[in-house]
Amino acid sequence: MVQPKKKRVWDLPTRLFHWLLVLAFALAWATYDDSRHLDIHTISGYTFFALLLFRLVWGVVGSHYARFSEFNYTPGEVLSYLHSLFGDGTKYYIGHNPAGAWAIFILITLGLLLSTTGLIVLGGEEQQGLLAGYISFDQSEPFRMLHEMIAWGILTLVIVHVSGVIIESLLQRENLIGAMFRGTKWVVGESAMVPAHRLIASLIFISAIIWGGLSLNTYLISSDDQPYQPFKGPSLAMNDLWNEECGACHLAFHPSLLPARSWQYLFTQQENHFEEDLMLDEETLSELLNYARENSAEKNKTEAAWKINRSVMKNERPLKITSITYWKEKHSEISDAIWQKKSVQSKSNCGACHFDAEQGTFQDSAMKIPD
Ligand code: HEC
Ligand code: HEC
Repeated sequence: MVQPKKKRVWDLPTRLFHWLLVLAFALAWATYDDSRHLDIHTISGYTFFALLLFRLVWGVVGSHYARFSEFNYTPGEVLSYLHSLFGDGTKYYIGHNPAGAWAIFILITLGLLLSTTGLIVLGGEEQQGLLAGYISFDQSEPFRMLHEMIAWGILTLVIVHVSGVIIESLLQRENLIGAMFRGTKWVVGESAMVPAHRLIASLIFISAIIWGGLSLNTYLISSDDQPYQPFKGPSLAMNDLWNEECGACHLAFHPSLLPARSWQYLFTQQENHFEEDLMLDEETLSELLNYARENSAEKNKTEAAWKINRSVMKNERPLKITSITYWKEKHSEISDAIWQKKSVQSKSNCGACHFDAEQGTFQDSAMKIPD
């Protein structure tokens, strides 16, 4: 009987990759449902993506058992492996077994799809991230569903993977989860011990810390003037004449908050604008109207614009943003006591609660109810 020897099978970068990936996925999962935690969700999503990209490289240049070529099994081998589970004991694999190998390949593929659909949704809905400005809300909407479905797919696969690990651990009387922490296994027969690759692991570790620090930095720099995450997408169009003419009595509502037909109607009524006469001459009026048309809700530059546009019926042309169903729904939970506060007073006083009302972006993270 040959004595088993304790040998390193998983190098340090592979183990770090594995557990950081678990952490990143768990964090992103925990924060997916609450737009106030979108930043944590995004940071963990980027981490997840970066880890997968690293793994692709490591699958080629990493140590023996971490290489894709080392666990490149055919579907036939997976089937006969699964079949052997019900037979008289399984063949022993030092590295990944065929079923585990396939789970890893599918996980990596789904993970890459999850990251890219996440980037598309972030770019389209929030106009943030790498794709900000390249994609509209409209275009990104189908990807949201896809993003969620892929995430559920990954969760399912993770459950299968963990069950597989437990079954294999029981069959082989070996703690495989522990092996993914320590990196070593008891190996019978000849097999090379893989190097730990401490230097590369330290580089990953240091990058993770720097990345974490940079991400936290946006919290550290927030102040009373800038109490929220700044809008990172391309800023919306601004017009000095508009700000001057329309900002005299109230906030110069950004044109993206109403459809073009509403603006058209508002300007034909300019002598009786909520009992005020705007007294605009022809030239000013046509410049303002052009600006409003070019940047109206239909242009879908922001989440608010997209949702407002969806919420107004084609045969309606509301003059008030605050009369639109979407606006009413979003603000239905705010109590009368808050509306009557001195700092609020009117529903049209968007700036009292939205720090970015002037820019027109109405970001999730820029909201505050005055207390
Ligand atoms: C002379 C003052 C005055 C000027 C100038 C003015 N408005 Fe108004 N506007 C008002 C008043 C008063 C209301 C009603 C506010 C309310 O009901 O709380 C109003 C309401 C609005 C609303 C509806 C807000 C809501 O509750 O949803 C829009 C949109 C609007 N104005 C657009 C404009 C635009 C565009 C311009 C520039 C062309 C402009 N206003 C210039 C006085 C003015
Ligand atoms: C009294 C404070 C207050 C005022 C005034 C106010 N809002 Fe809001 N608004 C909120 C709060 C709180 C929410 C978040 C509601 C939620 O998500 O449950 C919100 C949500 C929104 C949203 C949705 C943001 C998102 O991405 O979910 C938009 C768009 C918006 N407000 C636009 C406006 C506009 C335009 C005005 C002015 C005409 C305005 N609000 C006035 C408090 C206010």
